[in-house]
Amino acid sequence: MIATRTPVSRRFSVAPMMDWTTPHFRYLARLLSRRALLYTEMVTTGALIHGDTGRFLRHHPAEYPLALQLGGSNPSELAQCAALAEEYGFDEVNLNVGCPSDRVQNNMIGACLMGHPEKVALGVKAMMAATSLPVTVKHRIGIDGRESWEDLCHFIETVAAAGCRTFIVHARIAVLEGLSPKENRDVPPLKYPWVYDLKARYPELEIIINGGIKTFDECHEHLRHTDGVMLGREAYHNPWLLAGVDSEFFDEPGPVATRHEALQAMLPFIEDELDRGIYLSNITRHIMGLFHGQPGGRQFRRHISENAHRPGSGIEVVLDALAKVHHPAPTPAREAVT
Ligand SMILES: Cc1cc2nc3c(=O)[nH]c(=O)nc-3n(C[C@H](O)[C@H](O)[C@H](O)COP(=O)(O)O)c2cc1C
Repeated sequence: MIATRTPVSRRFSVAPMMDWTTPHFRYLARLLSRRALLYTEMVTTGALIHGDTGRFLRHHPAEYPLALQLGGSNPSELAQCAALAEEYGFDEVNLNVGCPSDRVQNNMIGACLMGHPEKVALGVKAMMAATSLPVTVKHRIGIDGRESWEDLCHFIETVAAAGCRTFIVHARIAVLEGLSPKENRDVPPLKYPWVYDLKARYPELEIIINGGIKTFDECHEHLRHTDGVMLGREAYHNPWLLAGVDSEFFDEPGPVATRHEALQAMLPFIEDELDRGIYLSNITRHIMGLFHGQPGGRQFRRHISENAHRPGSGIEVVLDALAKVHHPAPTPAREAVT
């Protein structure tokens, strides 16, 4: 099974997003692109070790290539969770050093760790000793009080010395005092040249750029300076974008020609999930963006919003919603997204 897996490339990835990159969204994303690397939501080491491990790590084999993102800083716990990532079949284990929420700061998780590069290095080293999977780090270009170029280079060099070869860089600082997590994704200015300069200074490292990227043209520009692009919000709100990824970045045909085809292909999975007792609305909220900007798209979303939460709602809600959108002739994905 491992031998037949799609090779892992970080040239194009979909960002980890709490409550958004759930198994249901990831299943849809995979129907649209075979090659985009997908990330789970962040799972804390505490939740994995002391909680319902199987539930937190649950995913469908169709989702591969798939990276597990961990939140934590205790080396032995990180090591234990990295081993679990391998045991459960993930392709990569990623450490979150970018999340600015208070809740996680109090537990030394996320962006506050940018102020403790040695701690991150110890964590990475422990993870690498516990698994043969690639161990990667997703971080910011700084945090308030530690936002100089020298601070960033010190962070990268310290963590690289522990063995990390891949850095996914959200190209803005996180302000830990005074901004909400949402504001921290918009307010601090994006500084793409900093990420380009990291690649120029450390050519031996794999540097992936993230933050505010929306179009393939922007992706191509970033790829002139870095090894890969990671898109978050745009991929979630406009998932059809992903249908162009395989041809645009991997020179391979995309798996589906139309949005209808993608949703049709998802129906058996939705039915299986309903059979497992998952509420329809927990699945359908992640497909709301599929007909973004399309004739009938609003009716599609309205039908789902008004009906999917009703007790006993089943697959017919999705079929009725699908009937409300115009079924176009297949278009090349690039034309469809730009
Ligand atoms: C709803 C939401 C949840 C997020 N959760 C996580 C997370 O669990 N781990 C993480 O590293 N980043 C998280 N992020 C940040 C994204 O991974 C990404 O770095 C950020 O949104 C910037 O990329 P974008 O402009 O392409 O969205 C989250 C972002 C959003 C919008």
